[in-house]
Amino acid sequence: MTREAREHWGSKLGFIMAAAGSAIGLGSLWRFPYVTATNGGGLFVLAYIFFTFAVSLPIFIAELIIGRRAQRGPVDALTSMSCNTGPWRNISWLCVITNFIILSFYSVISGWSLHYLILSLQDFTAQRTAEEISALFDRFYVASDLNIFWLGMFLALSAAVVLGGIKKGIELWASILTPGLFVLMLCLLLYCSSLSGFWPALEFLFRPDWSHFSSTGVLEALGMAFFTLSVGLGILITYGSYMQPTQSIPSTAITVAVLNVCVSLIASMIIFPLIFTFNMQPDQGPGLVFKILPVLFNQLPATKLLSTLFFLILLLTAITSSISILETLATTGMEAWGWSRRKSVFIWSTAGFFLGLPSALAGSGLLLPNWTSIYGTDFLSQINALPDWMLTIGALAFAFFVGWTLKPEIVEQEYKKASSALSLKFFPLWIALVRYFVPLAIISIVLHKLGIFQLLSC
Ligand code: PHE
Repeated sequence: MTREAREHWGSKLGFIMAAAGSAIGLGSLWRFPYVTATNGGGLFVLAYIFFTFAVSLPIFIAELIIGRRAQRGPVDALTSMSCNTGPWRNISWLCVITNFIILSFYSVISGWSLHYLILSLQDFTAQRTAEEISALFDRFYVASDLNIFWLGMFLALSAAVVLGGIKKGIELWASILTPGLFVLMLCLLLYCSSLSGFWPALEFLFRPDWSHFSSTGVLEALGMAFFTLSVGLGILITYGSYMQPTQSIPSTAITVAVLNVCVSLIASMIIFPLIFTFNMQPDQGPGLVFKILPVLFNQLPATKLLSTLFFLILLLTAITSSISILETLATTGMEAWGWSRRKSVFIWSTAGFFLGLPSALAGSGLLLPNWTSIYGTDFLSQINALPDWMLTIGALAFAFFVGWTLKPEIVEQEYKKASSALSLKFFPLWIALVRYFVPLAIISIVLHKLGIFQLLSC
């Protein structure tokens, strides 16, 4: 693909919808609520919001700057902007590998939402006891054929969107799916605000409780802030590379970060009132959405509608995120090996399917049968935890690249292009965050994770 032929987003709003679609995903709807619950609510939520704006958002802006300046995906962008010196090319390949790994297991979990959407349409909770409804998920988890089928279906759906290209594929679909998601979520929120558990849920979510404050929670909040904003993987370099110079990077980034935090909070304001209304414990782990919510929907009027709406929302968020991962891989194939978009999408999604098989078969143990007995947890849980590390390395690398390697004039010019007076005022703060605060925060957290030093004594 030559520079002249590069496609661009058709409109500013279209790009915001695509970037917000990438950010808002299973991370906000599936992971955020249960991790918030296991960390005791309140302070964890505050820490998450703080890290989103103080650490993730500056990197989000940095990635867009790299992408728009280079007009290339992560591999070509980092290689050309660093004149192929230093570790940058290798880091960009690490990002590509991480995207590939995430695509594989993310599609498995997204496939579950597709399965549950179809089940909801069939009113699957009717005439079933709570135990039977929960047990359905356990049975589904070990069903190899169903997991493989939904993995394939989900990847095929994502590939169909990415095949359409930037404007007619990703932007078009994101402009329909992302606002659709908001409308559906607001409907569910309105409903949940009438439940008796709504106020206790808000209290749990927003009331700081020091007795539940732990250093692990702080670390998890940082990881969550990276994951839910999709930073550290070069996805925003890719999306930025299709950006026009007439769009302001900081304003776009702030809009996406605010939307993303709002969705994570709204998702929790939907899920926790349901849990509190029925006096259940919120810290139910990853099964929260698939095992517990259907049981609760079943005890409310309009079960079928509620359940269908919820799993449709989950599916929409999953698709708009997975297309951003697949697009990054497709762009890499097109730029690094000169593949056509069609060939690149086909190869990456097929490869993603094969890499997804061990995750899809984690429950049944059909592949890698001894994994759980050797490592203590199944393959899916382990691979799910792996990207957090790689994302952290990627985020740190982008902060260094933009803060310390790129020419400051280039960075300033890209930041300031088409920016409002208000965004211009934030430039010194942003650059200080990228140069000092972000690397320091990440390094301290990594050292803590490695057990090299304690952040907090509790
Ligand atoms: N941000 C997405 C979510 O919240 C996950 C994601 C991570 C998507 C990394 C793309 C890249 O689910």
